[in-house]
Amino acid sequence: MCGIVAYIGGKEAFPILIIGLKRLEYRGYDSAGVALLNGDVNLYKCKGRVVDLENHIGEKNTKGSVGIGHTRWATHGEPNDANAHPHAIDNNELSIIHNGIIENYLTLKKELEKRGHVFKSDTDTEVLIHLIQDVKDSEKVDLEEAVRIALTQVVGAYAIVILSKNDPDTLVVAKKSSPLVIGIGENEFYIASDATPIVEYTRNVVYLEDGDIAVVPRHGELKIKNFKNKEVIPYVQELEFQLEELEKGGYPHFMLKEIYEQPRSIRDSMRGRASISRGTVQLGGITDFEQKFMKAKRIIIVGCGTSWHGGLVGEYLFEELARIPVEVEYASEFRYRNPVINEDDIVIAISQSGETADTLAAIKLAKAKGATILGICNVVGSSIARETHGGSYTHAGPEIGVASTKAFTAQVTILTLMAMEIGKMRGHIPKARFNQLLTEIKGIPKKVEEVLKTNDVIEEIAEVFKDASNFLYLGRGLNFPVALEGALKLKEISYIHAEGYPAAEMKHGPIALIDAEMPVVVIATKMGNYEKTVSNIQEVKARGGKLIALVTKGDKIVSEMADYVIEIPEVDEMFIPMVSVVPLQLLSYHIALKRGCNVDQPRNLAKSVTVE
Ligand code: AGP
Repeated sequence: MCGIVAYIGGKEAFPILIIGLKRLEYRGYDSAGVALLNGDVNLYKCKGRVVDLENHIGEKNTKGSVGIGHTRWATHGEPNDANAHPHAIDNNELSIIHNGIIENYLTLKKELEKRGHVFKSDTDTEVLIHLIQDVKDSEKVDLEEAVRIALTQVVGAYAIVILSKNDPDTLVVAKKSSPLVIGIGENEFYIASDATPIVEYTRNVVYLEDGDIAVVPRHGELKIKNFKNKEVIPYVQELEFQLEELEKGGYPHFMLKEIYEQPRSIRDSMRGRASISRGTVQLGGITDFEQKFMKAKRIIIVGCGTSWHGGLVGEYLFEELARIPVEVEYASEFRYRNPVINEDDIVIAISQSGETADTLAAIKLAKAKGATILGICNVVGSSIARETHGGSYTHAGPEIGVASTKAFTAQVTILTLMAMEIGKMRGHIPKARFNQLLTEIKGIPKKVEEVLKTNDVIEEIAEVFKDASNFLYLGRGLNFPVALEGALKLKEISYIHAEGYPAAEMKHGPIALIDAEMPVVVIATKMGNYEKTVSNIQEVKARGGKLIALVTKGDKIVSEMADYVIEIPEVDEMFIPMVSVVPLQLLSYHIALKRGCNVDQPRNLAKSVTVE
């Protein structure tokens, strides 16, 4: 969603802002803007991409060593020039960029209009800068205090940066429920909504906490206070990822790079955790909570989108290997129910970004009810990682493509290791089986490498089906969440309508859709319910459906029935999703590409969904 980048120091701010905004493009956006201070404030903004902003600015004055930049993902008001950020007031005396939503903006706006304020946009952000200015003038306080007082009247989520024409040596920033990180350079500071625009300049960062207001100076010390006006000591952390991880590394798209990174990312997820020689799995998220897991009567998994699919895989694994009942919940539904949560429940929140608003809210709800909350997150230092009692990072590395790929397989890797370890702890997995699973899981990266070799076959299948209007994905057991994930990938990036179903559920409705125009992807790998899946395939064939089958290498039965076949290597049933999802990622990628779609930044989507 929206992206923030700001700079204050001794360099020219404009190039830093533009590079930073480009780094933030992956989050999804529809307009962009910058404000630069050099005696006067020059503010430029427009609907469209960062490159459109550059064209719009052309040769105009971009001088200034302090500036703010923003990519907007529309919430209040359509994507247009007026609604783009920054928003300014009083001849650009104050300018603001904002991520998040001010929920009570209409009430505030009405009050401000009564007091003579006139608005130029439909946004909640413009209301906020008017409110701050109003407080500053009426209370006769400085900007920092005006921000503090104004924010006490605000309901909602925000990360804001404010530039003041009269104070060229400071930026004022604040955050609540929307991430904001400050990079500390030599006599300079970088501010951003995530660390991607910062990492090329400094590795030292401070993640603001909810309620923090910081005065970021051109030189000298960063000062942070909380809403209660109490000083907060900045906690400086070191960024773990490298700049190269944010580049395409020779691939035409981030999505393809990330698909091909999976052997490495799955290995990294297991590194230092799964050891064949010791015969152990050691995950911080479990060892610190061993007693809780021994007593747990239930695990609740919350997440959204792909992470929710990861959770569904976890449900099968925890129930099969650890014999603990599991409920998998959409975070957005869970948070607005009145869920029954007990103190001995363990809630596992899954999130690539660690910033998804619904997942964060679900965590807060379960925490308030006394449950133990663990996170499985990819982004180190993210809000979800900080809000949970413990957990395990996936270590997949930055995922830039909006469609999640390597994050999913890394989440499933962690869930599998967790299920194995808990199963062993609770006495449900004999030592020999545990060791066999350990050996097998360590071999999964090699199996994924093999799957990636089927890319050419998949590209040919994509050519055949690129103009389809609908797709059906079917799978049973552990392949059912994979079917959902395959369908989600396809609709996200190719805009083809696709649905995932448990294969046996097809005859209860979706079978009515099947005709010669309907491609049906069936994940029919060798596993417990293989024969049942074969029966479902017959039902598809009998109705003329075009069958694309994912089969285990050497399979004869399904291969003879299918119109198109993709082979994957044989793996233990428990690990199938890590392998079977990969061809479906590639299929979506190639279909989307052949349809001329923007694979990395599909329309309307945001990488990190920080509003509900
Ligand atoms: C995945 O391809 C999607 N872009 C989306 O469903 C995503 O998984 C969802 O928004 C959850 O994000 P998170 O993992 O960062 O919490």
